Amino acid sequence: MAASFTALHALGEPPLPRSKPRVAITGSLGKLRQPTTLELLQHGWEVVVLDRRLPQEGERVEGVKYVQLEMSDFGQVAETFREVDSQYKGLDAVVHLAALPVIGQAASSHQFKNNTLSTYHVLEATRQAGIKKLVLASSETLLGLPLDPHPPESLPFTEESERRPESAYSLGKLVGEVMAEQYARWDPLLSVCSLRFSLICAPEEYAEFPSWQGDPRAFPEGNCWSHVDARDGAQAIRLALSSLKGHHIFLITSSTTCMCTPSSELVRTLYPGVPYEPVAGRGENQTLLSIEKARRVLGYEPRWNWEEEVERLRKEGIIP
Ligand SMILES: NC(=O)c1ccc[n+]([C@@H]2O[C@H](COP(=O)([O-])OP(=O)(O)OC[C@H]3O[C@@H](n4cnc5c(N)ncnc54)[C@H](O)[C@@H]3O)[C@@H](O)[C@H]2O)c1
Repeated sequence: MAASFTALHALGEPPLPRSKPRVAITGSLGKLRQPTTLELLQHGWEVVVLDRRLPQEGERVEGVKYVQLEMSDFGQVAETFREVDSQYKGLDAVVHLAALPVIGQAASSHQFKNNTLSTYHVLEATRQAGIKKLVLASSETLLGLPLDPHPPESLPFTEESERRPESAYSLGKLVGEVMAEQYARWDPLLSVCSLRFSLICAPEEYAEFPSWQGDPRAFPEGNCWSHVDARDGAQAIRLALSSLKGHHIFLITSSTTCMCTPSSELVRTLYPGVPYEPVAGRGENQTLLSIEKARRVLGYEPRWNWEEEVERLRKEGIIP
């Protein structure tokens, strides 16, 4: 018998109880796209990907539903968080990644509007649909990165460090965190985690890392030589889909900087006079954006190391 459009189920979706929780990932066609989708599938989630751009042939992951969505249109977001025709009905969690993520990639006002309005729409549509688990992609940049010309007050950065956005992009990320704080206050059952990702690296990007060694000024990002492997970013997203109630902020980076030079020497060279207190037991190349809170609260532990990845690329003949 053909399915029909009723109050109980969307057109075409079989009215069977779901065996798996369902998560929607917004904007998952970027660097975090495949790792996040795979990580969540492997950990028992059913995944729906929402983006204004549908994936090309070859970008699709088997078993994932893809739905086109313009996030600046609240009606579309609210509707999509409830059901989409024959695709699905109901979501248990949302991972919001959609954004214009590069400083200067669009007019600042457009970037700010696109990113903050999308985040507001996600928070409000989540509230209206009764979804209780939400992960938002925030950014290390709201700590005042790039650091030139204003050096940090102290290192390593932590979640408690001063928030000092220096661009429309990072200001938008700060506004996203402020909104999340209030939505969590309005609904004590809501779990919302803002993950302040560092520079996200796809595995092939490690080919560039050797070119920065020897001169700490050669690394172009001005973010204390920080990065995170996209697969570790995906791990953090999965762990953040926990049941922690309230709004929680986490810095998410790799466990080391992207330099061979010890972190204390990097700080002495580029930020003389800035107080630096390394975390005991985390090695001399430890990240200068502390991930101790993510380790402690979420159980996050980066699995990928750039030096091993460079070695792999050498063995595969991809770099000399
Ligand atoms: N790339 C990084 O190094 C980095 C670092 C820190 C934080 N982040 C954050 O992580 C998230 C993902 O970053 P990325 O580099 O994978 O981004 P990306 O540009 O590669 O992908 C973002 C996706 O969002 C979609 N999108 C943007 N605006 C939309 C809208 N209005 N409606 C529907 N879709 C829309 C785009 O089509 C794109 O597929 C972003 O929120 C970004 O700000 C990224």
